[in-house]
Amino acid sequence: MKNSTDTPRTDRVLVTGATGLVGCTLVPHLRRAGYDVVASGRSGADVSIDLTLRVPTLRALDEVRPDVVVNLAANTSVDGCEREPHQAFMGNVHVVENIAEWIRSRAPATHLIQISTDQVYDGPGPHPEGTVCIVNTYAFSKYAGELAAANVDATILRTNLFGRSRCAHRTTISDWIARSISAGDSITVFEDVLFSPVSLEGLAQAITLAVERRTPGLFNVGAREGMSKAEFAFALAATLELSTEGIRVGTTQDVSLVARRPSDMRMDCARFEEAFGVRMPALRDEIEAVVEEYVEHSIPRAPGT
Ligand SMILES: NC(=O)c1ccc[n+]([C@@H]2O[C@H](COP(=O)([O-])OP(=O)(O)OC[C@H]3O[C@@H](n4cnc5c(N)ncnc54)[C@H](OP(=O)(O)O)[C@@H]3O)[C@@H](O)[C@H]2O)c1
Repeated sequence: MKNSTDTPRTDRVLVTGATGLVGCTLVPHLRRAGYDVVASGRSGADVSIDLTLRVPTLRALDEVRPDVVVNLAANTSVDGCEREPHQAFMGNVHVVENIAEWIRSRAPATHLIQISTDQVYDGPGPHPEGTVCIVNTYAFSKYAGELAAANVDATILRTNLFGRSRCAHRTTISDWIARSISAGDSITVFEDVLFSPVSLEGLAQAITLAVERRTPGLFNVGAREGMSKAEFAFALAATLELSTEGIRVGTTQDVSLVARRPSDMRMDCARFEEAFGVRMPALRDEIEAVVEEYVEHSIPRAPGT
């Protein structure tokens, strides 16, 4: 079908959870790439909706009629999910079930991009997609969300991220490290937790590629050559030319956390690289890239540096 000007309609992408950490980077990124983006959140977006409510969700999707849904809506508090498993289920599983029901019953050509997490891994990494090991309720609920997404035509991306947050009320691990040490505060970073996150910008690029290609399947999206959170903090501080005096190295045994944390979440991204024809960057290169952004936006230096 052609529109009145005989040009093909721009693909409409609904980004749910658009008001969160990833959404605040992704939405402008997708708009710059030329998509007709509809941003949804519980409030403060183009479409305000609680996606745990089935009928209002089906109605809202009927109105937007997206070609692609990027689902970022989630209950992302790891400890909160442990304390309130029902809320974890509602935010991380039921939301996906409602979106998948709409696609299955009313718009089977619509593609779903479901964002998941590296928390589904544990044991020595880097992990390919088949080696799931669930150690907390957040991971359990995100994994169940993947299963709900897999009922329709879906790209499921497991990831972790860092970089300069564009979201007023949310910070990343690198925001926390950079701001703490530049303010002269002392922080404890874990040497017994390994990860391989990508920058927010790198993740936005990967999601945009998934929107463009719509290749179905389950993929890890992370950096090459992951490291411990302690190594990450020192590498970030060194690249920012900040003092490392306030960085204390500890382990997860030193603190009492509500939810158990996986010890090694590093991801093997060969499947994503092959399917999408890209090479993921090394974590050190991603750190360099985010530091440029922090410097541009003037992270204050710690006293004496
Ligand atoms: N942040 C990370 O480090 C990280 C790491 C790995 C994977 N991920 C995954 O990446 C995705 C995005 O994470 P994020 O950090 O951007 O999350 P976030 O900052 O916590 O934002 C979550 C978004 O979801 C919305 N939302 C939550 N419950 C909803 C509901 N019932 N109905 C409608 N909207 C709802 C929130 O709206 P309100 O503003 O109204 O709360 C917010 O816009 C998630 O799937 C997460 O699991 C994140």
